[in-house]
Amino acid sequence: MKFAVLTDTHFVPRGGKLYGLDPAERLAVAVEKINATHRDISFVILSGDLAHWGEQPAYASLASVLAGLHAPAILMMGNHDKRGAFRSEFAGADRDAHGFVQGVHVFDAATIVTLDTLNEETPDHAGILCEARLGFLAEALGTAPADRPLLLFQHHPPFDSGLRYMDTIKLTNGEAEWDIIAGSRKPDYMFMGHLHRPIAGTWHGIPFHIQRALTHQVAFDFETEGHIPGTHESPDYSLVSVAEGNIAIHQCSFLYDGPTFSLHDPKALRSQSSRELAEVTA
Ligand SMILES: [Fe+2]
Repeated sequence: MKFAVLTDTHFVPRGGKLYGLDPAERLAVAVEKINATHRDISFVILSGDLAHWGEQPAYASLASVLAGLHAPAILMMGNHDKRGAFRSEFAGADRDAHGFVQGVHVFDAATIVTLDTLNEETPDHAGILCEARLGFLAEALGTAPADRPLLLFQHHPPFDSGLRYMDTIKLTNGEAEWDIIAGSRKPDYMFMGHLHRPIAGTWHGIPFHIQRALTHQVAFDFETEGHIPGTHESPDYSLVSVAEGNIAIHQCSFLYDGPTFSLHDPKALRSQSSRELAEVTA
């Protein structure tokens, strides 16, 4: 099984920009590339912060861009989202018994579990898993097929990353989540958004993957603490393959428009600049 991951699309109403960037324009480029190069994917997952201010016109713009995607989309909530406005445009999205945007998707190669860590009651952007959502996680871990990997997706990381401001708005009750996992089953991999940076590691022995946002990024800065330092580093989507229990994650810098060349080409090897290389290998 293969699938693609995008995160933190931060949509605004059609034609609008955020920090100088047009999220709809960027997602359209990603959709076009994914359609053209990954015809064998089962789905694309967007792991939260779908819209920056959570308003209905932003979700309408997102829906119109995603309409061009050939693969189905699994959509998740982040701290910037609003469930009501989201539902008005995506009525068929995952919905658990309590109305949270989370679900269990069982495929032959793996089970995908998505969690809704949005806390709409507090405006500070930290995440939470309330008792109902912890119960959903326990049920999902306890009933998922044991013979294939379980991949757990959630917007907020339950741990500190070292990015100082971001660590103040992580999942507030990560240890409660760990208690559920420790009492049931460890996911084979965790995927998160929120941090707008490429980060990998382990949490309680569980490997995790965090990737760049579709839009603005968070700087590689471990000193600033009073605000979130931002950058315009290029975005990525991930291509994940799961086969016979093995998982591989590739990052695609989909806005890259520089030269593509053979490393065995002597002209490319001796080029003195990127421009010269593009000319001699054209
Ligand atoms: Fe975000």
